[in-house]
Amino acid sequence: MSDELKDWLDRHGGDSGLTETVLAIAGGCQLIAEATRQGPLIGLVGSAGSSNVQGETQQRLDVYTNELLSTAMEGCRSVAGYASEELEEAIVSARHSSDGWHLVLFDPLDGSSNIDANISIGTIFSVLPHPEPGREPAADDFLQAGRNQLAAGYAVYGPATALVVAVAGRAASFTLNPADGEWVLTRDEIRVPTATREFAINASNERFWEAPVQRYVAECVAGVEGPRSRDFNMRWVASMVAEAHRIITRGGVFLYPRDNKEPRKAGRLRLMYEANPVAFVMAQAGAHAVTGCHPILDVKPDGLHQRVPLIFGSAEEVARIVDYHADTSANVSLQLFKTRSLYVNAHA
Ligand code: F6P
Ligand code: MN
Repeated sequence: MSDELKDWLDRHGGDSGLTETVLAIAGGCQLIAEATRQGPLIGLVGSAGSSNVQGETQQRLDVYTNELLSTAMEGCRSVAGYASEELEEAIVSARHSSDGWHLVLFDPLDGSSNIDANISIGTIFSVLPHPEPGREPAADDFLQAGRNQLAAGYAVYGPATALVVAVAGRAASFTLNPADGEWVLTRDEIRVPTATREFAINASNERFWEAPVQRYVAECVAGVEGPRSRDFNMRWVASMVAEAHRIITRGGVFLYPRDNKEPRKAGRLRLMYEANPVAFVMAQAGAHAVTGCHPILDVKPDGLHQRVPLIFGSAEEVARIVDYHADTSANVSLQLFKTRSLYVNAHA
């Protein structure tokens, strides 16, 4: 039992009975925190020798954490069904398919390429309403726009274990006290700074990015001599959940844009259990999340594992990136910028 988390959910969760569902997810995250802490001591490193539905190699910890969260969802009477990055199809709860009123989607272990290197990893979750409680949920019931989420959040297993929970109009951060297993409320009414000088992107993909993103990053990198007239800092952890937590802590912008590296894929991140929950957290904290042109929360899903371009963080920077997407001259602006600006002169 976690009193501060329960009190917060009882007070701010509205009338959709969120407390049980989020406490069950938090319980799963607590077990995952313990497992990640012991890692190599209990053999939870390295590949599981299998692939998930996206064709990605599963790590032992991917498989184990998926089992932990699945068990937590099966035991929760408010959860009629759940879906996971690691499972091809959505699962109907064996015990509560007809009396549960929520559908939960999760990425049990985000940033799994970081496990063996002992770098922060996390869990991401999204809670949707069951459209018709009283009957078994069908596969299509899960395909709701992010705007419908009742709650969303993530846990980050870093130097401390943090759990960020967002419900309509409010987001808070809890820190796990390892001494007694309590989630202690450490930050309420989170607001993300609207301005920032920090961005996060995998710069090795620069040549594949769409033109508005090339323009945005080139202008940041140009620093004080460029059109932004100030220096920017860059970070890339390669665990989205860790980047999201840095951004809600001190601001910043994260970009995994559409690119033409694998034109078949609309983006890298998955809509239902990565982009939507992070977008919901950002929205409650005064930050934005877009595909480039459109709010993530308005994307109409067409598949459980669909990918989307994802840009989120401090409102002013995200608005600027949306403007660059809307500006058709941005398609040529990188070239113009390179030939016109001091950036090129300074580096010629
Ligand atoms: O789940 C996808 C993910 O691992 C994110 O957590 C992270 O931001 C991204 O992929 C890392 O991508 P890359 O391998 O291109 O650095
Ligand atoms: Mn992930």
